[in-house]
Amino acid sequence: MEEIIYYYSGGGNNRELAAVLQKRLGCEAVPIDPAAPRSFIGCLLSMLLKLPRKAGPSLTAEQRYGLAIVCFPIWGGKMPPAVRSFIRQNRDKFMHIAVASASHQGDATGSMLLDFISTAGGRPLAVLDISLKSPGGAIAVKNDADNVDRTASIVARAAPEIDLFISAIGTTR
Ligand SMILES: Cc1cc2nc3c(=O)[nH]c(=O)nc-3n(C[C@H](O)[C@H](O)[C@H](O)COP(=O)(O)O)c2cc1C
Repeated sequence: MEEIIYYYSGGGNNRELAAVLQKRLGCEAVPIDPAAPRSFIGCLLSMLLKLPRKAGPSLTAEQRYGLAIVCFPIWGGKMPPAVRSFIRQNRDKFMHIAVASASHQGDATGSMLLDFISTAGGRPLAVLDISLKSPGGAIAVKNDADNVDRTASIVARAAPEIDLFISAIGTTR
């Protein structure tokens, strides 16, 4: 079954997670919005204003994939508006959708999944949920592209969760 990764990332954490999954799965990884805001204020504004309402890439009726892995941060306990728009516009083009998220706290996954379910019209096939907060409680990764190396090491620490996720989506192959 053909699979594809779509990712949304402001600071680079979820771009890094998407790259890790892409390497493991050997599939394409496509940004939902290459011009996603990078600063915290930009992210906050697009969350509060619920923008953009239309997020590319919009898939044609012919472009149907067995499995889409959608990779994104949690914003205010929900999906970023661009991700919500993308899923709403394209949910019929995928047989399955799996969710992968590198967030800060890792404690808002339940509310983010409720948002996903009401947008997609069903549960994700699998969920990968990585908290980038360090065990000591300090912020391990700031929302800053320069921290991609640190993100990579934290994502590497989540290797067991990533393995579980890969085997869960493996059931569709
Ligand atoms: C506007 C905004 C709201 C956020 N809300 C949450 C949240 O509710 N829960 C959480 O764990 N992290 C939250 N975060 C932190 C991001 O999920 C986290 O920094 C994530 O790794 C950023 O991913 P990115 O670098 O791919 O953009 C928020 C970040 C921003 C910018």
